[in-house]
Amino acid sequence: MVARPHVAIVVDRMSVDDLAAVQEIERESFTTPWPPHAYRAELETNRMAHYIVARHGDRIVGFAGVWLMVDEAHITTFAVRKTWRRQGVGERLLIALLALAEARGARETTLEVRPSNHPARRLYEKYGFAPVGVRPRYYSDDNEDALIMTTDRLDGRQMRDRLAGLRAAVAKRPDIELGADGLPIEPAARAGRAGEAGAAGGEEAQEAEGRHAAAPDVLRPSNVRRSS
Ligand SMILES: CC(C)(COP(=O)(O)OP(=O)(O)OC[C@H]1O[C@@H](n2cnc3c(N)ncnc32)[C@H](O)[C@@H]1OP(=O)(O)O)[C@@H](O)C(=O)NCCC(=O)NCCS
Repeated sequence: MVARPHVAIVVDRMSVDDLAAVQEIERESFTTPWPPHAYRAELETNRMAHYIVARHGDRIVGFAGVWLMVDEAHITTFAVRKTWRRQGVGERLLIALLALAEARGARETTLEVRPSNHPARRLYEKYGFAPVGVRPRYYSDDNEDALIMTTDRLDGRQMRDRLAGLRAAVAKRPDIELGADGLPIEPAARAGRAGEAGAAGGEEAQEAEGRHAAAPDVLRPSNVRRSS
């Protein structure tokens, strides 16, 4: 049997050289993608902004951003390349953002998400974000409301314990397994190959991806959204 390659994901600071790949992921992830100049401005002129990418070798497979505003962090954008989803890349990016926010003195982290974006909401809930309000008709393409989600205090016992547990679980995950096409093997296919009865999880993922393909949008504070 031919051994399949396994890969490690590295989280790194985003640079302008990454913007072409970031743009591809934007376009496949969001109905109203940010144009490249918006990212360039964020990287070059916004001192509050911090953007990171997840790399596999020299390929960008996901990215995320946060604004650090005195004692508050606001996640502005977050996406993983379609073919690399459900492999823990999103978790690695979120862990890095939350660690950065805490290290820079943020007390909590907030974000906006579409109520219909179940994959993203589940990810955020897993990391301790809870709904605290709604911004009516926030998304300009279809006037969907935005759900505002916030963490508990980042330096509080509950959040620290939760993050330590999640970080340990991510560290224990097996490396991502690549198929003959060089892309990750989908979790459902992996489960099927291993003869596991993973049908319920597979269905849940497909259902959620369908909704997310129809309705996701980038997370952004309203003043960033206006500029794009
Ligand atoms: C949301 C998104 C970033 C998640 O990235 P990802 O790399 O697939 O996420 P992970 O593999 O790290 O999953 C972590 C957790 O997220 C949740 N999750 C992710 N995708 C899910 C899905 N399709 N269905 C249900 N839960 C899902 C689960 O809680 C999962 O934990 P589990 O593996 O223990 O079940 C990705 O789906 C994406 O890029 N979506 C399009 C852009 C977008 O909507 N961005 C957010 C804007 S608010």
